[in-house]
Amino acid sequence: MTAVPVFTARHVEAAVPPERAVDAVREAFVAYARGDWTMPPKVYVPAYPAGDFRAMPALGGGHALLKWVTSFPWNPALGLPTVTGLVLLSDASNGMLEAVLDAGAVTALRTGAAAVLAAETLGRTDARSAAVIGAGVNGRAAARTFVARGQDVLLWDVDPERAEGAASEVGGAVAASREDALAADVLVTVTPGHEAVFGAGTLRPGQHASLMGADGPGKSEIAVEELARVRVFCDDWTQASHNGDLVHAVEAGVIGQDAVTELGAVLSGAAEGRRTPDEITVFDSTGLAIQDLAIAVEVLDRYRIDTNDEAFSGVQTIESR
Ligand SMILES: NC(=O)c1ccc[n+]([C@@H]2O[C@H](COP(=O)([O-])OP(=O)(O)OC[C@H]3O[C@@H](n4cnc5c(N)ncnc54)[C@H](O)[C@@H]3O)[C@@H](O)[C@H]2O)c1
Repeated sequence: MTAVPVFTARHVEAAVPPERAVDAVREAFVAYARGDWTMPPKVYVPAYPAGDFRAMPALGGGHALLKWVTSFPWNPALGLPTVTGLVLLSDASNGMLEAVLDAGAVTALRTGAAAVLAAETLGRTDARSAAVIGAGVNGRAAARTFVARGQDVLLWDVDPERAEGAASEVGGAVAASREDALAADVLVTVTPGHEAVFGAGTLRPGQHASLMGADGPGKSEIAVEELARVRVFCDDWTQASHNGDLVHAVEAGVIGQDAVTELGAVLSGAAEGRRTPDEITVFDSTGLAIQDLAIAVEVLDRYRIDTNDEAFSGVQTIESR
């Protein structure tokens, strides 16, 4: 029998600071771009109108991962999280289960990390201001990551209380208005994707936007006309061209694969990122299982170095054969 640790949200957050999450997610994007890590596209299991489930597998670094996770956008009104579920981490040499982790915490860490990583990679080198639109669980994570990287951040949300709560929690500031937030040099959107944050002609020369919220069927944070006008990057073409922001432009015949660059290709040096200071760049994220794998491995590695580390106080185990 093997004792398999179960890491709650508290353990995951204590084990991996946002700065380390950015590095781990960067390494995962590069490993995936080079073919060292592999990942079939996520499987959506629709349960509309309430929401959907996703099964997300990945293999890399000697481990295999499966994340079973939700997006139920109306849940906050019921006092429940939009994103919840579990991550299973296994040993890729013998199939043995190694850890169980809270999917909401893993997701938030890696989503915040990817949003900021894309902003730092594709934004102007002289970018000064940053804003996060949508201050829910994953918007907070993005804002927290900006702050951890030494970047001041503005927050805006349709629900002002959410923006205020998030700003005081992460050490950011509430934007005076939606327009104020949208004027920042780098933007991260983490809304439910029911309506476009960026209409036609709204992004200005030199701005970057990491579009994190529209990660499933029927969602979008940017108008097709605006997507057609800017330089487009995504996390994974296969996944992003079938769900989220890109699919609408692909179906309209406005954008094809040749017009879209994967972030991992830029990070690994295989493709060009921003070409000119005036270029408008957007990063369409649908969320990759390799990002989750990067965080889960970080947690497990740290646990294995010292199971008595304060970060892991109260960790329970389950018996596995
Ligand atoms: N790309 C990824 O990797 C990834 C990862 C996690 C979550 N998501 C997606 O991100 C979205 C948000 O997830 P969450 O867990 O943070 O949800 P959440 O419910 O905790 O937060 C969403 C926030 O957006 C706000 N909001 C709604 N409409 C808005 C608008 N038009 N402008 C500004 N704010 C608005 C809400 O008031 C709320 O505070 C979901 O669609 C989810 O599926 C994507």
